[in-house]
Amino acid sequence: MKEWNVAVIGLGFIGLPLSLSYAMKGANVIGLDINETLITEINSGHSHHLEYYEGKSLQDILQEQLKAERFRATSSYEEMAEQVDNYIITVGVDVKNGDPQLANLQSAMEQLSKVLKKGDTVLLRSTVVPGTTEELVKPILEQNGLTAGEDFYLGYSSERIAEGRAFEEFRTMPLAAGGMNPESLQKVKELLQVVTEVAIHETEIKVVETAKIIENVQRDVNIAMVQEFARFAERTGMDTYELMKTANTHTRVNLLTPGPGVGGYCLPNALYYLLPKAAEHGLDLPLLRKAREINDGIPLHVVEEVINSLQEKGKLVKEAKVAVLGLAMKDFSNDDRISPPHDIVNLFLEKGLKVAAYDPAVPNSYSYKVNSLKEAIQDADALVYLTVQEEFVELNWDEIISKMKEDAVVYDAKNRVPLRIRDKATLIRM
Ligand SMILES: NC(=O)c1ccc[n+]([C@@H]2O[C@H](COP(=O)([O-])OP(=O)(O)OC[C@H]3O[C@@H](n4cnc5c(N)ncnc54)[C@H](O)[C@@H]3O)[C@@H](O)[C@H]2O)c1
Repeated sequence: MKEWNVAVIGLGFIGLPLSLSYAMKGANVIGLDINETLITEINSGHSHHLEYYEGKSLQDILQEQLKAERFRATSSYEEMAEQVDNYIITVGVDVKNGDPQLANLQSAMEQLSKVLKKGDTVLLRSTVVPGTTEELVKPILEQNGLTAGEDFYLGYSSERIAEGRAFEEFRTMPLAAGGMNPESLQKVKELLQVVTEVAIHETEIKVVETAKIIENVQRDVNIAMVQEFARFAERTGMDTYELMKTANTHTRVNLLTPGPGVGGYCLPNALYYLLPKAAEHGLDLPLLRKAREINDGIPLHVVEEVINSLQEKGKLVKEAKVAVLGLAMKDFSNDDRISPPHDIVNLFLEKGLKVAAYDPAVPNSYSYKVNSLKEAIQDADALVYLTVQEEFVELNWDEIISKMKEDAVVYDAKNRVPLRIRDKATLIRM
């Protein structure tokens, strides 16, 4: 088998496990990131990512691959380019105030263009505004005089894995890919096939870029719809989860689960990648905008439900303490980027409540974050359960309620709090 030399640019939630997936297949991999602290951490065998594969943690796999000298991280484009002829780009496109920020990707491509050699292959895997590969990446890479499709190969394949299942899904999730020309497509397919074991759907680059976005947007819209169904269930005295479960017994229905909001890097950003291109063509996309607006409004709904319940009990909102369980954007994750629990915390703080939030998996520090469940719940007037973590799976709810103030309010966004606590506290379910 050919000896593969691969560079992965951007060593985040995608780039690090992807680098290790190539290394586990025997490729020589060099990972590049601009974050020097991260490089030092990775090269010393440390990582906070909660990914597992065949009983090993990402950190175990990282240590194995560092020891076997199949993987190393660097911040030097020159050092990287001396060793590889294949580049996979996983630098993200942030969204600020609704605008996609292409600066990081642009700067990575400018640096890469300076070291790119004849015969190299560049595969973009970041989620991007449609047209980015051909309209932004290609002209930047060609600044060094090489022509895409002739002197080097350029293609795009979206990344579809879910955090927490990365190693498995890099192998098993069907892919779509496009190339600047047939030779480019062939090259990027070969590069993908080092790790993927399943079909690669071949199509135009801009179709793959756009499909990735609408895959995420359809989940955003589905969740917004489910939020309305949940409100309906709530008002008419039905159990939302039972309602969704019942509808989902129809084989052509797939309603997602209601939660405290829509978070993470992917779903909330998706619409904003589509809007600039839609605007260029005079399109508005009102349904998609409305779904985003509904989902952005969920944290406020949660906060209002809790505050109304406290007020009904005659409790003074300004003196109330709220325990928040979970800050990550989804269950069993350490990722708290664009996380609705933070929005919920900030809304409680704005309204004058005190907040003690606990999440054993999230490494970041916040003024409202505490170090134990005990600290969070002690003398709390209300508890909002927003994200499930391992430590929260088998909670002793009787003990929790006994540590909280009398006549407490519990808001369960996860359908995990036993109904029997209604004897001792007010339980609100999503
Ligand atoms: N996280 C997911 O579950 C997921 C799933 C599918 C697709 N994606 C997409 O994959 C891409 C990466 O996502 P992520 O979650 O890994 O993001 P991330 O923020 O965790 O990682 C991106 C990394 O790129 C680095 N970086 C920024 N500018 C750079 C530069 N100029 N040169 C080199 N490195 C640079 C950052 O320091 C960071 O470590 C995004 O486009 C995202 O939309 C993510």
